[in-house]
Amino acid sequence: MKSFFHVQDIGDLSKALEEAKQVKATPYAWQHLGKNKTIILVFFNSSLRTRLSSQKAALNLGLDPIVLNVNGDSWKLETRMGVVMDGDKSEHLREAIPVIGSYCDLIGVRSFAGLTDKEFDYNETILKQFIDYSGKPVISLESATVHPCQAFADLFTIEEYKTVKRPKVVMTWAPHPRALPQAVPNSFAEWMNAADVDFVIAQPEGYELDPQFVGNARVEYDQMKAMEGADFVYAKNWSAMNPYGQVINKDMSWTVGARQMAVTNNAYFLHCLPVRRNMIVTDEVIDSPRSLVIPEAANRVVSAQVVMKRMLEEM
Ligand code: CP
Repeated sequence: MKSFFHVQDIGDLSKALEEAKQVKATPYAWQHLGKNKTIILVFFNSSLRTRLSSQKAALNLGLDPIVLNVNGDSWKLETRMGVVMDGDKSEHLREAIPVIGSYCDLIGVRSFAGLTDKEFDYNETILKQFIDYSGKPVISLESATVHPCQAFADLFTIEEYKTVKRPKVVMTWAPHPRALPQAVPNSFAEWMNAADVDFVIAQPEGYELDPQFVGNARVEYDQMKAMEGADFVYAKNWSAMNPYGQVINKDMSWTVGARQMAVTNNAYFLHCLPVRRNMIVTDEVIDSPRSLVIPEAANRVVSAQVVMKRMLEEM
């Protein structure tokens, strides 16, 4: 695996989930793979789970992790090509990336969507430069349009907790005060479409995701109807595609609460975190025994470790 970006990069999903089970059961069994090897984790944006779970996954594999906080620890980096660098950015990605690549064996990159230039974001302009210029395998740690380590952990959590062969999984939009990227819902949709689940996306009018990620999923504009019989409810906010990156609805009736959960099949509740309580989900639901947000976050170590393990095995 030269890069981890889309669900296709992981290959056969059943095999990947079986491998995730093994990694979770015996996390230190592959320590030899990372000996004398280094992963550099480059963060252009804030993170709690991705930063810590990636470091823990690396340590489990015997890899040395180095974290670089761009704009904090390093020079401010210019990401656009062909610009006159007369502003506050001291170094261009074009030099920084090969330098980073020369210090390590694997690279992970968090580079959120800017949400102002759809073309720049949906071309994955920053992540693709890392792939093109680093000479090393690159993992998206949530780039502009995808968050594959999160979606892999989400699918693994569903696999662990499902009680029917083909569960109904509903991803519902929920309100948020600020504009958020589409990366998490894009990847969740992509991975659910590839998995053996009955997948429904519930959203208000105007929040349609890019068709390449929606695929054949059923889109439902009536949230209560979508929730009927759900085995898993995955809540997430995302901003609109048109006008790009804008908040066009803050309808609090979409907050996931007891009313929505009552029509499900005693569904488990999932969210990638961080979550705004009583905006996205009520305290009652997130604090209930059916909430899986903590085991879901814990599985971020497992998904990251499977990806790094695969990359190391191919070296
Ligand atoms: N879910 C997730 O990626 O969390 P962080 O932004 O804290 O890494």
